[in-house]
Amino acid sequence: MENNKEPRIVDLPRIYDPRGNLTFVENGQGLILFAIERVYWTYDVPAGESRGGHSHYEAEELIVATSGSFQVNLFDGREWRHYSLNLPYKGLYVPPGYWRTLDNFSSGSVCMVLTSATYSEDDYVRDFDEFIKLSAR
Ligand code: TYD
Repeated sequence: MENNKEPRIVDLPRIYDPRGNLTFVENGQGLILFAIERVYWTYDVPAGESRGGHSHYEAEELIVATSGSFQVNLFDGREWRHYSLNLPYKGLYVPPGYWRTLDNFSSGSVCMVLTSATYSEDDYVRDFDEFIKLSAR
């Protein structure tokens, strides 16, 4: 387990089963270093559409492609990192302070996000210029 606050792909447990495989995330498991406070997911994303376009002051997230595929683009104010997610047993850890966009959604894809905080608009930076100013500090 890494304890730094850098983006990284997290390998989640896989319980193989001829009836169908199972993956789980729970608090105290040691895979992610935040307690899960909220789960949300996006679906029915039209082809060519993009989501995200913000950063968080404090919230940490684990993004999982529970179905289908999409790309997550992370920007720390200096460089972009791009992650293709298409496996339901891999999560992308996104620390606070990263601008993120999500695109290239496949038909029928589901983007599930586990996050460290309940929803608060106050935790969002939605203006890119403002994000650049904050990240330069
Ligand atoms: P937003 O975070 O902008 O979506 P995304 O980044 O995934 O494209 O949220 C879109 C709208 O949904 C916005 O009006 C806030 C609302 N929302 C909630 O009410 N609760 C939530 O947990 C989330 C993630 C969003």
